[in-house]
Amino acid sequence: MPLPTPQSSVRVVTMKVDGLDLSAREDETIIEVCRENQIPIPSLCYLDGLSILGGCRLCLVELEGQSRLFAACSTRVAEGMRVVTNSERLQHYRRTIVELLFAERNHVCSVCVSNGHCELQNLAQGCGVNHVRMPYRYPHYEVDSSHEMFRVDHTRCVLCSRCVRVCDEIEGAHTWDIMGRGSDCQVITDLARPWGDSSTCTSCGKCVQVCPTGALVKQGTSAGEMVKDQSFLPILARRRHQR
Ligand code: SF4
Ligand code: SF4
Ligand code: FES
Repeated sequence: MPLPTPQSSVRVVTMKVDGLDLSAREDETIIEVCRENQIPIPSLCYLDGLSILGGCRLCLVELEGQSRLFAACSTRVAEGMRVVTNSERLQHYRRTIVELLFAERNHVCSVCVSNGHCELQNLAQGCGVNHVRMPYRYPHYEVDSSHEMFRVDHTRCVLCSRCVRVCDEIEGAHTWDIMGRGSDCQVITDLARPWGDSSTCTSCGKCVQVCPTGALVKQGTSAGEMVKDQSFLPILARRRHQR
């Protein structure tokens, strides 16, 4: 006799997003449902596969009947929910958040290794940020190049904590942490020791891959490191000639 098919206890709910009728599992978040249905919601700290932080607030959406805004990455769907993902109010908040991120550190895209493939840059373009209205802080941060394979440039860090979470939750090394308060927070390796001295880092590179900006990069990828070396040519040519 065939075994009965196990019944899922997860209910399906119906909801509206931007006027579209959608159905979703009740254990899903708004951002998951929107991504499944190709409805764009900007995000920075959210990354599928990592725990949810809900820190950057770029994914804010409006819920009908509620005056406050909700983070789509940390809000579960509910029966009858009506979500607005794009409005003048949301655009205003998102643009302001992106501008603040730019003003907080030293983002000079033209000399950044991530220029052209940076999530912050893409967000700025998507939000129509062509200038920043608040004064820049120009904080002074060192670049840590002590690791033989990777480099951290704190001036490009947006404190999304993706590196901290992937290192802890997926690699299990827990090399990264965040130290300090407010806008003076900084990512650190081990107990604020140089990355190259870390006894916990396995050099897996997962943190570099999930970093949305040019803060964590592979060594040898900056424009300055791409200088071509042609000194080998006369040596080889002379040796070949001498044969
Ligand atoms: S991290 Fe992104 S936004 Fe910042 S300077 Fe580099 S390319 Fe520009
Ligand atoms: S180093 Fe990259 S991944 Fe880590 S917090 Fe900064 S921006 Fe996010
Ligand atoms: S993506 Fe939702 S708060 Fe950052």
